[in-house]
Amino acid sequence: MSTSPAVNRRVTLANRPSGMPELSDFALVELPIEAPAEGSVTIAVEVLSIDAFIRTVMDERAFHGAAEIGGPLPALGVGRIMHSTVDSLQIGDAVFAPLGSQTVAELPAEFVRKLDERVAPSTAYLGGLGFATGVTAYIGMMEVAGVQHGDTVVVSAAAGAVGSLAGQLARIAGAGRVIGVAGGPEKCAWLVDEVGFDVAIDYRGGDLDGQLRAAAPDGVNVFFDNVGGEILDAVLEQIAFGARIVICGGISHYLDMGNVVGPRNYLKLAERCARMSGFAVNFYAERVGEAEAALAGWLAEGRLVMHEQHEHGIENFGHAVRTLLSGGNRGKLLLDLR
Ligand SMILES: NC(=O)c1ccc[n+]([C@@H]2O[C@H](COP(=O)([O-])OP(=O)(O)OC[C@H]3O[C@@H](n4cnc5c(N)ncnc54)[C@H](OP(=O)(O)O)[C@@H]3O)[C@@H](O)[C@H]2O)c1
Repeated sequence: MSTSPAVNRRVTLANRPSGMPELSDFALVELPIEAPAEGSVTIAVEVLSIDAFIRTVMDERAFHGAAEIGGPLPALGVGRIMHSTVDSLQIGDAVFAPLGSQTVAELPAEFVRKLDERVAPSTAYLGGLGFATGVTAYIGMMEVAGVQHGDTVVVSAAAGAVGSLAGQLARIAGAGRVIGVAGGPEKCAWLVDEVGFDVAIDYRGGDLDGQLRAAAPDGVNVFFDNVGGEILDAVLEQIAFGARIVICGGISHYLDMGNVVGPRNYLKLAERCARMSGFAVNFYAERVGEAEAALAGWLAEGRLVMHEQHEHGIENFGHAVRTLLSGGNRGKLLLDLR
């Protein structure tokens, strides 16, 4: 167990970035730790989840609500209760909450979930069992995609957190062939050798259309898209009759959300009687219990593996966000403050 911090070190939004955030768009401040208000708890933050939405909330208009200049960035995390005013949460309890970009968080108890570390280590609640990772991949692949036995499934940002799980879930759902799209030969080799994808396509390696045709000669039945843009257009060109395209995210747009361009190849949906459906996991809160139980079972059996990449120190929050946006992560990117 980590020792209780003496001050709260908080990363704040210094400027709204244009494009890739600069390190100067983040500031580090130190704040005193106050006693929690009645009904609230104080949490020593141990590990933060670095997610793509952190970039989108840096914009003035954001689906998840804009972060304020001078305020913390939102981030999910796990930590340990330092002070409590409620009986249900005791000092030392491991918890999950929207802790934000800081080393100490004070939150009303209703926003804080106590974790059972006998079920899984606390970081699993950010990755394989995490709402924005495991549960997202589960809803997208097991519910929205409607995978059928023998399907050829393509996943973009396949070496990332959601993508690496989505590919493994496609296999569990009965897919016949699972194809990942990722940046660079090392990530592609990792996907095939260690994560269990059948084929991995390097979208930075040129001739994406040709690589996809070779990987899915009979067409793509399911596309789980985390990226949008050129990758979405290339897969649309290659969809099979009755294909299902799941829009989980569009990270290729997140650095310039004011100029999102729709898919050039969308008429393939009509030509091939295909459908494209999006989803946002926050509308599936009632499915969390079911998703976690299923994911925990597959993780315990080894049928599902969540690779974690740990960066360290709150002062590296901005660096970690840049790492995610530039593809420097494999699997779940976490910022470890322990
Ligand atoms: N629908 C929902 O409710 C929901 C919930 C959570 C997350 N999401 C979405 O899921 C996606 C993945 O999120 P994550 O947190 O798991 O992140 P992640 O996949 O672990 O990391 C992001 C990855 O995206 C790839 N990437 C970045 N810029 C790209 C570009 N311009 N073109 C192609 N690939 C690019 C990078 O991999 P490469 O090296 O391969 O480029 C990077 O590693 C995001 O789109 C996110 O918004 C959706």
